[in-house]
Amino acid sequence: LRDSFTTCVTRKNHEPVLCQQPQASSFKVAILGAAGGIGQPLALLIKMSPLVSAVHLYDVADVKGIAADLSHCNTPSQVLDFTGPAELPNALKGVDVVVIPAGVPRKPGMTRDDLFNVNAGIVKSLIEAVADNCPEAFIHIISNPVNSTVPIAAEVLKKKGVYDPKKLFGVTTLDVVRANTFVAQKKNLRLIDVDVPVVGGHAGITILPLLSKTKPSVSFTDSEVQELTMRIQNAGTEVVEAKAGTGSATLSMAYAAARFVESSLRAIDGDADVYECCYVQSELTELPFFASRVKIGRKGVEAVISSDLRGLTEYESEALEALKPELKASIEKGVAFANKQP
Ligand code: NAD
Ligand code: LMR
Repeated sequence: LRDSFTTCVTRKNHEPVLCQQPQASSFKVAILGAAGGIGQPLALLIKMSPLVSAVHLYDVADVKGIAADLSHCNTPSQVLDFTGPAELPNALKGVDVVVIPAGVPRKPGMTRDDLFNVNAGIVKSLIEAVADNCPEAFIHIISNPVNSTVPIAAEVLKKKGVYDPKKLFGVTTLDVVRANTFVAQKKNLRLIDVDVPVVGGHAGITILPLLSKTKPSVSFTDSEVQELTMRIQNAGTEVVEAKAGTGSATLSMAYAAARFVESSLRAIDGDADVYECCYVQSELTELPFFASRVKIGRKGVEAVISSDLRGLTEYESEALEALKPELKASIEKGVAFANKQP
């Protein structure tokens, strides 16, 4: 079971890696929002990782039962439960990676920005605790609107004097997972071979798949580009509508988040060949935060890969310019929120 998970999630140069011998499990991962739709399957996937020695489950809702259930899986990692703000510091002490899917999901008719009023405050208070208890950890933010919650987190960490831009990530892996799936289906390619970089942000038109940079090289007609781009941009809404008021993507998100956690742990473990798309502080464009392919190393982002933005098609160049005002406004909204708080 562990090998099949590792085969599926652990990728080197976007190729599957078969782990014949389980690697030493030594890393601790905390999930904040662990009782939720994403948190529970994500906890299961992380429990299956051979790199993990402990999974810390934290939520404002009781996580005791979830932890008891998960702890019976015969994989090496320990499962510890932490419920409510009084137990949050202990949930965070000593962890290498903190994943944050805490917050409310969309219902049909809502934008991700409609979640701002509730989720901004949740992310702010959780990041304050991260700053106080595990300032060295990699921070993975899933809570929407990611375009604003990541800048909020950065401001909070700055105020606490512990901001390391290399270790703060907005999780956009699901956009890549979707792009890979939809392109493989459309072009009858082997799923495992396909890799599409997705840049910009994580909402509507700010999600920009660079189909011209698809590996292996594929040619698309103009209408295929338009159709695929729109499907990838609207994929979250596709799930929200199909779930008809009961939430948004949880299983595919947990899968994507587990891939990003596994990549981060491999990088911390010394693998020098880890690349993922994610939303980070960036100088790639004039915007202070931007999602792109980055090289991740032991200390976080080692390099932002600029080559993906060179030689774009006219369609992609126009879409890149078109997304900038919305992304800029979302970043500024997050920064303003964090700075107006005491
Ligand atoms: P959910 O409602 O099923 O779960 C959220 C969990 O967060 C709940 O268990 C809740 O008790 C917990 N929570 C609320 N406030 C908390 C706090 N202060 N501290 C700790 N836990 C707290 O929602 P979900 O489907 O798991 O989605 C969670 C978030 O992830 C949403 O904001 C959603 O929009 C976002 N999301 C992001 C992506 C992405 O690609 N980045 C994909 C899917 C969903
Ligand atoms: C997604 O892309 O599935 C998430 O951002 C959740 C949503 O609200 O669409």
